[in-house]
Amino acid sequence: MASFFTIKGGKKLKGEIEVRGAKNAALKAFASAILFDKPITIKNVPEVEDIKRISEIIESGGGKVEHIRHGEYKIWGSITNHIIDPELAPRIRASIVLTGPILARLGKVRFPHPGGCVIGKRPIDVFIDGFRALGAKIKTEKNFYDVSARKLKGAKYVFKNVSVTGTETIMLAAVLAQGKTVLKNSACEPEITSLANFLNKCGANIKGAGTPEIEIEGVEKLKAETYVTIPDRIEAGTFAILAAATGSKIKINKMNPDHLDILWTMLEDMGVKVKLNKECVEIAPGKKLKPLDVKTHEYPGFPTDLQAPISTLLTQAEGQSIIHETIYEGRLFWTEELNRMGAHIAMCDPHRIVISGPSKLRGREIESPDIRAGMGLLAAALIAKGKTVLRNIYQVDRGYERIEERLQKIGADIKRK
Ligand code: EPU
Repeated sequence: MASFFTIKGGKKLKGEIEVRGAKNAALKAFASAILFDKPITIKNVPEVEDIKRISEIIESGGGKVEHIRHGEYKIWGSITNHIIDPELAPRIRASIVLTGPILARLGKVRFPHPGGCVIGKRPIDVFIDGFRALGAKIKTEKNFYDVSARKLKGAKYVFKNVSVTGTETIMLAAVLAQGKTVLKNSACEPEITSLANFLNKCGANIKGAGTPEIEIEGVEKLKAETYVTIPDRIEAGTFAILAAATGSKIKINKMNPDHLDILWTMLEDMGVKVKLNKECVEIAPGKKLKPLDVKTHEYPGFPTDLQAPISTLLTQAEGQSIIHETIYEGRLFWTEELNRMGAHIAMCDPHRIVISGPSKLRGREIESPDIRAGMGLLAAALIAKGKTVLRNIYQVDRGYERIEERLQKIGADIKRK
């Protein structure tokens, strides 16, 4: 039987917690292995389900992923199969990032359309247009894309929509292309900068990553090096919000506070005490929690991946808060579960909710619809009176390493059953 969490709410958290490596950075480093002749080493990898899924796909294509020790992997990306396994691909949407390096190395890639999911439609038009701009031919047949180009050619490409994985995929494709690529309206997330820094260390020539305009001068070959995964800003931010929601004082270690400037501003506006240090942050309760208007946005705006936990936190603020989810059209429906726990949330349209607080939350049986909503519900369970059973925790395990053990250490009453 699938496992679940039981959580007894109402306990304060205390002490220190360490942040793991960023899932959304490590996944792209795994994909980049395909660009190399020799194996690359990746450190500070979170031991989460999504990493297992991307490893399975790399291995199904003829590569090899060796788990050296906790958090450390060696990856032979010399794959021979240009077809991304249609059974495995839908299990992890980030598999789309593999298309860029496979196309660059094998001259062709075939992959299934990823389709929509619980958080939204999730189109891939910017990937396809990007490949076309680099000179690839695209064929679509039933549910598959066939993309081919004997040698990709550098070009100017403007993203119609800012896309994180889109930027990473086209950047990975352009690294070994002939000539110069200029990407405009690129995403600026720290995971992209980190990937570019790694590729540059290996001999690539990428300028401007972390800004909307990225310039890539194609190189012949990359030299295999070690990638150290940056700390997970979403996990760090979630811990800070958990502390604020439970009125606790905790210290969050091994993180980069600069990646969450907007969150610190918002928490301080709410009345939460935030002390920033070089690689750690201390959170302490203020007098009372004030409401807030939150609009999710591409980096450096408020991350959609923190929308769920901050929504839960705002159920505890005195007054009305508004959440405007601008990135995904399906990412607010999970708040119906919060209402079942006693929150007062009205949905204006799929992109906007109004939260009236403070609400006394009550524990109950709930299900996690997606990875981040799972943490929003877990936050609610930690605040709630009584016991919560949180099901479908595969979603939480996709991105948070053994979360229950780590939260137990800072005082949470949470068990995996
Ligand atoms: N979009 C398009 N066309 C495209 C691609 C995207 O219209 O071809 C739209 C999407 O529909 C969405 C917006 O652009 O409205 C942004 O989507 P984006 O492509 O940036 O999202 P993503 O790259 O698929 C990554 C993270 C997500 C995170 C978003 C936004 C990874 C593996 N995933 O997704 O993380 O929410 O950026 O920051 O890096 C998660 O970890 O829970 C997660 C969903």
